[in-house]
Amino acid sequence: MRLLTTALATATLLILGAFAVGRSAEPSPDQETADMQPVEESINVHMSSLFKPSYRRLKPLMVSEPTDAAGWNKMRSEALLLAECGSNLTQYHSSNGFNPDAKKNWPRNSADVKKHAAALYNAAKKQDFDNAKRSYTSMTNSCNACHKSEVSLGSPPMLTPFGKGITDIYIVIPKVID
Ligand code: HEC
Repeated sequence: MRLLTTALATATLLILGAFAVGRSAEPSPDQETADMQPVEESINVHMSSLFKPSYRRLKPLMVSEPTDAAGWNKMRSEALLLAECGSNLTQYHSSNGFNPDAKKNWPRNSADVKKHAAALYNAAKKQDFDNAKRSYTSMTNSCNACHKSEVSLGSPPMLTPFGKGITDIYIVIPKVID
């Protein structure tokens, strides 16, 4: 019994220790604020350098169930990247002053991208293609919901989860007539 109590106490200490380590990753009040600044403020750059290439790599993986571990790993890695990037978007806000709903919708749509990309990540971990596909479609709808809100400033693309679309990797090579 004493052994059990000691074991329990040790386990509790270990859990508390792990919690303390986890929490120490959070910013301390005296941490330089510069450390916490985003590397890049521009949403345009986030979209064209993070979201777009990741979505492009993900899209062909969602056409049919991966046949090997490498395919599932790729799906998982893109989903995680998009989930973390979606989470990061919640720290920004819409700069569209023309559409009053845009500012209101921004946090919801960012959080939805995170939620569905996280579900995709978890489905890929379980190699559950039906759920992965559903989450991927819902994530794309959330990307598009924000793009629709933002549309009066420039024209963010409407993404097509399946079939041809703006983020496809297929490039039409123009015929050169000489
Ligand atoms: C909360 C808002 C928001 C969400 C969510 C969002 N986007 Fe965007 N996206 C924008 C805005 C704003 C632009 C236009 C940026 C500009 O041109 O200044 C844009 C532009 C883009 C572009 C065009 C960039 C280019 O270089 O042509 C792509 C591609 C894109 N987004 C992909 C995605 C994908 C994929 C997702 C979801 C996984 C997503 N976006 C989610 C706001 C959002």
